[in-house]
Amino acid sequence: KCSAGDSQTVVIGLAADSGCGKSTFMRRLTSVFGGAAEPPKGGNPDSNTLISDMTTVICLDDYHSLDRTGRKEKGVTALDPRANDFDLMYDQVKALKSGVAVDKPIYNHVTGLLDPPELIKPPKILVIEGLHPMFDERVRDLLDFSIYLDISNEVKFAWKIQRDMAERGHSLESIKASIEARKPDFDAYIDPQKKYADAVIEVLPTQLIPGDNEGKVLRVRLIMKEGVKHFSPVYLFDEGSTISWIPCGRKLTCSYPGIKFHYGPDTYFGNEVSILEMDGQFDRLDELIYVESHLSNISTKFYGEVTQQMLKHADFPGSNNGTGLFQTIVGLKIRDLYEQITSSKTAAPLEATKA
Ligand code: ADP
Ligand code: G6P
Repeated sequence: KCSAGDSQTVVIGLAADSGCGKSTFMRRLTSVFGGAAEPPKGGNPDSNTLISDMTTVICLDDYHSLDRTGRKEKGVTALDPRANDFDLMYDQVKALKSGVAVDKPIYNHVTGLLDPPELIKPPKILVIEGLHPMFDERVRDLLDFSIYLDISNEVKFAWKIQRDMAERGHSLESIKASIEARKPDFDAYIDPQKKYADAVIEVLPTQLIPGDNEGKVLRVRLIMKEGVKHFSPVYLFDEGSTISWIPCGRKLTCSYPGIKFHYGPDTYFGNEVSILEMDGQFDRLDELIYVESHLSNISTKFYGEVTQQMLKHADFPGSNNGTGLFQTIVGLKIRDLYEQITSSKTAAPLEATKA
């Protein structure tokens, strides 16, 4: 029998609808840990897994129990729990968390079929991303930290149009129809998971331009649960105070409509949270250092690390606004959480031998 590894795997859940920026977020996260994540070598070229030195990101679509034809026949969408195998998801995440490798299925997005499985070894950090990381209570209990990307309908629509119309040639009507068709199951099975999330990144249309719903300028809110082990929320100026801040002026170039920050305590689904909000966008990314220097608890290892990460990936979507900024900060918080969990683990056996 394989002995479980000495260091336990830290498990992170990332939930969102498809086309809501999960892969962009994962690229920012794996970059914080140094090194880009690549598909497993020598395996199925249609694998959805991304592996780097520190992290393995698995896509929960791989736990579809019904393939595309099966879903059509039964009249269920991929968002429906009946199209997904939560028993297997639980068994495999639990095995990986305790240091045991698994043969994970592969859902082939091109053919819509289930391919032969691939071997996944226990990584230092396992990210499970997809539609249902917090749906099943057993899986949810295995998560050391959970994130929900909450993209408002207006913004989701704007992003879909940009991608599916511009890049894939779909019509406006068909995009509208596909969003409408997904909505009932999205509301029933995906959206309710946000109440369990330790951090939610909420993306809304700007309030700086009256009546705007173009989805170009965004108001982004980072909702951080209080009292989560190994996670202390980021704050602006003074922890626990309520603050509005317009940084535009001598040190920050802001063209219309400018930038507005807000920070303060709040409640979210009955939980105490801190919310940091950024509405608007940066004109010059290097000036982000000015904003960064006013944020506390961002878990950087050196002055300017957030700005450096943002500059490094200036070409990723959302780099000039709160989506990129908050994804980067959450990435740093996850690194911090990982370091706290592993250092408390290595300290434990020493304590035990003393006794
Ligand atoms: P997912 O992995 O959830 O399907 P992606 O990260 O691949 O999502 O993003 C899908 C598309 O959505 C991108 O190609 C881009 O057009 C758009 N998008 C994602 N994140 C942002 C963002 N922060 N700002 C603007 N557009 C975005
Ligand atoms: C969602 C799921 C995918 C699925 C897609 C389309 O985006 O994440 O796994 O392939 O829906 O589903 P369909 O049943 O139309 O192939």
